[in-house]
Amino acid sequence: MGKNTEEKWEYYEPPTSFINQANVTEDLREDTEYPECFERYADLLDWFEEYDEVLDASNPPFYKWFTGGKLNASYECIDRHLPEKKDKTALLWEGELGTTQRFSYQDLYYKVNSLAAMLQDEFGVEKGDIVTLHLPMIPALPLTMLALARLGVAHSEVFGGFSAEAVAHRMDDADSEILITADGYYRRGKLLNHKEKADKAVEAANIDVENVLIWRREDELHPNASFIEGQDVIVQEAIEDYYGEEVEPVEQDSEDPLFLMYTSGTTGKPKGCQHRTGGYLAYAAGTLHDVHDVKPSDTYWCMADIGWITGHTYIVYGPLALGTTSVMYEGTPDYPDKDRTWEIAEKYDVDTLNTSPTAIRMFMKWGKEWLADKDFDFKLLGTVGEPIQEEAWTWYYQNVGDGETPIIDKWWQTETGGNLVSTYPAVDKMKPGAAGKPLMGIEADVVDEETGKSVEPGEQGSIVLKKPWPGMLQTVYGNDERFISEYWESFSDTESNDMEDWIYEPEDEVRLEDDGYFRFLGRLDEVMNVAGHRLGTGELEDAITEVDEVAETAVASRDHPEKGEVPDAYVVLKEGVTGSEKLKDKVVSMVEEEIGPIARPANVYIVDDVPKTRSGKIMRRLLEQVSNDEPLGDTTTLRDPSIVEDIREQVHG
Ligand code: PRX
Repeated sequence: MGKNTEEKWEYYEPPTSFINQANVTEDLREDTEYPECFERYADLLDWFEEYDEVLDASNPPFYKWFTGGKLNASYECIDRHLPEKKDKTALLWEGELGTTQRFSYQDLYYKVNSLAAMLQDEFGVEKGDIVTLHLPMIPALPLTMLALARLGVAHSEVFGGFSAEAVAHRMDDADSEILITADGYYRRGKLLNHKEKADKAVEAANIDVENVLIWRREDELHPNASFIEGQDVIVQEAIEDYYGEEVEPVEQDSEDPLFLMYTSGTTGKPKGCQHRTGGYLAYAAGTLHDVHDVKPSDTYWCMADIGWITGHTYIVYGPLALGTTSVMYEGTPDYPDKDRTWEIAEKYDVDTLNTSPTAIRMFMKWGKEWLADKDFDFKLLGTVGEPIQEEAWTWYYQNVGDGETPIIDKWWQTETGGNLVSTYPAVDKMKPGAAGKPLMGIEADVVDEETGKSVEPGEQGSIVLKKPWPGMLQTVYGNDERFISEYWESFSDTESNDMEDWIYEPEDEVRLEDDGYFRFLGRLDEVMNVAGHRLGTGELEDAITEVDEVAETAVASRDHPEKGEVPDAYVVLKEGVTGSEKLKDKVVSMVEEEIGPIARPANVYIVDDVPKTRSGKIMRRLLEQVSNDEPLGDTTTLRDPSIVEDIREQVHG
């Protein structure tokens, strides 16, 4: 049906052919009973034991979902599909060099069972443990997640691109004594030595790491990978004794944790978002079914890395719970050439592609000629992770979607477990750059940051969530107080036992449009979004001050045409130290070492001082304006307004 103009906005409508086959054809937001509406999601699972109550809100904000229900995530994603589709492809893995591995549901069953048996019998892994994974995009990652889930053991996967320090911090925080990693993986044609990060992590961790389990990427161990006797184990060797073994899926309570996913916040080290089994899995499957319109017959490709929440929910748990075919790709979209994405889409006849604005901007820059001779035909397209500019949206719609494939722009976070704001693709019109409305059962509002009062349509403010939902995090691992202070304190009556008094603040800025659509504008807090990856300025600053010569630093985000944002580091040196290119390089290397290459500062500026308020708070917003060469905001609260002028002079001349 194409484009329609209503009011001053341009709307796009899905074609009838899409509507005719859609899972959801009426607005699920209407006539919903809260919280019973979420039974719709729970019904997509096969529970060992039915739940008693959808929501137990007696102790906010520690909500319980589907109380009394028993299930196992590995059973939901594998076993229950066997009677009808054991030969159906569950996972399609594409290696960077073009090798393929195809796993049917039956294959998954065998592999996950023998792995679970090995983990249990050889390493004594049991319910209640937390096992850290530092696995890249190879099949070992979903297999290991599912094997641990089968045993009722929570996994804590650290994105493969993160550094040894990041792994060590997470192992310490979670009291996790086993690390499962790989010897290597391919990036731009090169087999990287990933094992060396495990060695450094074991050294850096305070906790005594008992074992490091290594999945070999190739037939032979990476030539430069170490092997430490007594500590290291090659999974493919240890598992041989367990071939053919079966492990009963452990009956998990709905509220038993399924995994931890660490994410950046405004202050301090990354926090472990703890996700529960029942509510999370139901929410993953439910949103995938309703919003992503996934059917068992579909081939679904979410281009995220499983090391982030998007991959957990929409590569592993959601698609496998629904019994569909999920695609995962090891490498980068420009290797060996810039048509790699379209080649994979054609090869596997992908129905739904889910990617990020960063990737779309990159495709746009590379040019549509890379798509020209490719034969793909998507049913639905997705974007997620950052605000998408209208230009990128339109390019995606016209060139990847042929001017008719519906696009869903889904807003959510690591903490929320699954999508919270989007259009329902067969029901709502699309509006480029505006994600849509809160989904079924999600009570979102936009409020003034200062007063907490709802804003009028046309105005902007902070999004808040006024009622809980099943996919939400249970708590910050080991730190209930931080859970409250990070997410609830601003607008809640924290003394109250009434759910209505508890308001969750995601810390995103939104314009509430006249038609009720939410247009997300970016983070409110000091968190950056670099190519769809969340990084705290505090985390970067902590890393930079590890450099001996650095006295103080402030990190600000600079707009970037492809990545959305990149960090700029403003660095003050200790007395007597003089700045040099070498020192700047040292700052960059320290960030890579402490966090990972994705956090690498775009620029390091050596400055005399950073702007501070009279009470000593660093004004990062002013530095952000300097980085972006924008007019400076209010500087009257600064202790010394000349500092920021000097910095501007230095940066822009
Ligand atoms: O700022 C929002 C942005 O990404 C943040 C969440 O990042 P993370 O926890 O890493 O989760 C990524 C998986 C969704 C949000 O606070 N964000 C996410 N989706 C969108 C978005 N911004 C605008 N539009 C979106 N669709």
